[in-house]
Amino acid sequence: MLVAGASGVLGGLAARELKARGAVVALAGRNPDRLAGVAGELGGAPFRRFDAYDLDSCGALAAWAARELGGLDGVLVTVGVAGFGRVEEVPDAVVEHLFAVNVLCPAAVLRGAVARVADGGFLAAVTGAVVGQPMLGTADYAAAKTALSCWLGVVTREVRARRLRVFDFRLPHLETGFSDRPVAGRPPALPRGGDPAAAVRALVDQLEGAAPPAR
Ligand SMILES: NC(=O)c1ccc[n+]([C@@H]2O[C@H](COP(=O)([O-])OP(=O)(O)OC[C@H]3O[C@@H](n4cnc5c(N)ncnc54)[C@H](OP(=O)(O)O)[C@@H]3O)[C@@H](O)[C@H]2O)c1
Repeated sequence: MLVAGASGVLGGLAARELKARGAVVALAGRNPDRLAGVAGELGGAPFRRFDAYDLDSCGALAAWAARELGGLDGVLVTVGVAGFGRVEEVPDAVVEHLFAVNVLCPAAVLRGAVARVADGGFLAAVTGAVVGQPMLGTADYAAAKTALSCWLGVVTREVRARRLRVFDFRLPHLETGFSDRPVAGRPPALPRGGDPAAAVRALVDQLEGAAPPAR
């Protein structure tokens, strides 16, 4: 399985959890030190860098992972970045960044994975509870996540004949520090978030149910 975003908190937790349950994982991320660190923890898992602004590098990840692993049963994308502010305060460059990281990049990774993932496998991405429940000051972030959610919904129907499962994980606010690393702006007041490890265990429970039987 491929985890794209494994250098982040949730991606790293998911990679560890998948490995602990017996999956063979390939990792992709942006920060080279954190990526290598997770790969080392997982006993030398293959890893590769990519950036949301290089969509070719995003689209090539699944083919690379399939080569490294000798097949591919699923792809989980946890890439994302927050950005906050009233709409009239958010510069267009920030909006572009939010859409590149939260929509174009995950879509490119999964687009490249459709033909690579084995029948009965999965395509998955993390969107967020913000889909359907956007807070004031999150219009562009929420719009980006909602666009990805819509895209995943169409993919779900397109790949059904191949028994590919598509997951749109609308996670609630979690204590990963994500909202404290926005590309711009300051987060609205948020209650204490949930436990990231518990959320990732529940997410992997669903992926495990979708993975094809061992070959
Ligand atoms: N934490 C929450 O409360 C929460 C709630 C709902 C949904 N989510 C979603 O969950 C996902 C993971 O969040 P997290 O909490 O684990 O935060 P995180 O640790 O900040 O993870 C964000 C990930 O996105 C990657 N990323 C950001 N900009 C990138 C770029 N330009 N190119 C390539 N990768 C880039 C980061 O890569 P590097 O670390 O290598 O820079 C990191 O792997 C996000 O999609 C977020 O929207 C989070």
